[in-house]
Amino acid sequence: MSNPATQVRIVEVGARDGLQNEKTIVPAATKVALIDRLSATGLRTIEATSFVSPKWVPQLADAAEVFAAIVKAPGVRYPVLVPNMQGYERAHAVGVEEIAVFAAASEAFSRKNINASIAESLERFAPVLERAKADGVAVRGYASTVLGCPYQGDVPLADVVRVAKALHEMGCYEISLGDTIGIGTPAKARAMLAAVANEVPMAALAIHFHDTRGQALANILACLELGVAVIDSAVSGVGGCPYARGASGNVASEDVVYMLHGMGVKTGVDLDKLVATGRWLSEQLARDNGSKVGKAAA
Ligand code: HMG
Ligand code: MG
Repeated sequence: MSNPATQVRIVEVGARDGLQNEKTIVPAATKVALIDRLSATGLRTIEATSFVSPKWVPQLADAAEVFAAIVKAPGVRYPVLVPNMQGYERAHAVGVEEIAVFAAASEAFSRKNINASIAESLERFAPVLERAKADGVAVRGYASTVLGCPYQGDVPLADVVRVAKALHEMGCYEISLGDTIGIGTPAKARAMLAAVANEVPMAALAIHFHDTRGQALANILACLELGVAVIDSAVSGVGGCPYARGASGNVASEDVVYMLHGMGVKTGVDLDKLVATGRWLSEQLARDNGSKVGKAAA
């Protein structure tokens, strides 16, 4: 392996990317219990919820209630998704210290997901980033559909690079590159990351794979070889996007942590506690545990 990091930060997205795709409304108390359990595993970044329109994602209509109720563990960051100024105001009102904005690399997906063109969405984020800066709120950025789009098909690399670069130039401290529909394969994932890293420093990049076609761990390994050191994943492999047809679960955090620890890469995460949390969540949601490690560990 050419240049793997010795330490990787896991960004746990199960409470947001995971739950946003659940059809049955999960009680706020369960969401709070999930985040509190995750806080005790050693994870340092836990995406908590999403202040999008409740008309678009009813599952996360309780964002303010959930964010206010979680126990904020020292040293843990709890970013939330924000699509516009209205979402920012709601998040700021409950004391959020970090937000994530999200733009698509595919024009067709942008319209389906946020009812705006890519250019309009970036314009919409500009004042949000300005406000966040003035308020001392950190901003992460997502570029989604970086390896393919459910509506448009192929997404040119140049479009991925352009969106990631725009988010970085706007002031996002980190850009997460999302294979929203889990369609990529390792060589393509690596080429995409390499192309973006020509324009945005690798230290400001994260990878976000959905495991729809079972490629996520292989894609992660291919990207680790380029030196990326931040990986998004979701406990028990929950996840998907209600506006990305065919998108299923995120890569399971347990499986990523198991692989990294097996390679001697540190994460700071207690795998046993993470596995226990994944099993607990699977019971709460009455669904099969999407983590292979979670199923295997006795
Ligand atoms: P719109 O309908 O064009 O906007 O939606 P609008 O301004 O006309 O608002 C419609 C209604 O929603 C209005 O209410 C607004 O007040 C309200 P009404 O007047 O009809 O009563 N509204 C809000 N309410 C609360 N909070 C807000 C908010 N905004 C508007 N923030 C909009 C545009 C962007 C709002 C909408 O399309 C939206 O919320 N989309 C979010 C969809 C979403 O959450 N998708 C999943 C996340 S992205 C993802 O999963 C990918 C990722 O994981 C990376 C990867 O995998 O690649 C990040
Ligand atoms: Mg996602």
